[in-house]
Amino acid sequence: MRIVHTITELRQALAGATKTAFVPTMGNLHEGHLSLVKLARERGGPVVASVFVNRLQFAPHEDFDRYPRTFERDCDLLRSVGCNVVFAPSEDELYPEPQVFRIQPPPELGDILEGHFRPGFFTGVSTVVLKLFNCVQPRVAVFGKKDYQQLMVVRRMVQQLALPTEIVAGETTRAEDGLALSSRNGYLSESERAEAVQLAMSLKHIQLSMRNGHPDPAALEQEVMDNLRQRGWVPDYVAIRRRVDLGVPSAEQRAAGEPLVVLAAAKLGNTRLIDNMEI
Ligand code: PAF
Repeated sequence: MRIVHTITELRQALAGATKTAFVPTMGNLHEGHLSLVKLARERGGPVVASVFVNRLQFAPHEDFDRYPRTFERDCDLLRSVGCNVVFAPSEDELYPEPQVFRIQPPPELGDILEGHFRPGFFTGVSTVVLKLFNCVQPRVAVFGKKDYQQLMVVRRMVQQLALPTEIVAGETTRAEDGLALSSRNGYLSESERAEAVQLAMSLKHIQLSMRNGHPDPAALEQEVMDNLRQRGWVPDYVAIRRRVDLGVPSAEQRAAGEPLVVLAAAKLGNTRLIDNMEI
């Protein structure tokens, strides 16, 4: 496995490759990331993983500075699953000057849910993803469904800008109790970790209720938010949406079997967790 830190080295490492598969990450890897690398490997070309904590997608009050950086361990893990190239640029390499050109997702997708509570987040994500795509020039890129809205934003960007990259979605990897794996789970205290599974359990409850024909999604969302609040969480949103564009489904669409997803974000202590389940 080659570890490269500059765009020039990356291009040399990939010279002549036409089937590169790419997994962008911010490091602090866990089994969820590794499952995405394994999916990338199935495509038969060289697999590149990037490790870059992207300042552009963090608001000033967010956890950019304390985001865990575990590069040596990340490389060991990536090696263990057959990654071929790790691209770990410095901030100066990727942003040698202020990044004034940015990719602005459409508000109806980028300013709802996560984008509402984290203004500018998807502009930061889209900008770095496009820039990383330009560095790696992948045929395929793999994104986890854990960040469902991010996956939708990237898919839409690729479609709108006619990028020659196929976006593949990887299923969410969960701990034995059901908690979705996330780098931020490491912030949880022991008691918070025990409580954290309630987020997945709440989504499961909504998934089952909707599958059993619950007539009132808004009441269900409210019930789950209230329950989380009573348990000490501070929920940002619990939202049942159309999978296709994350819009609110009409009663007619629900009756017609429109594919849905339920998404949630909530704070437990100082840690903000997100999760989702397709219904
Ligand atoms: O999902 C992530 O880890 C990040 O948002 C990504 C896609 C690597 C962009 O920084």
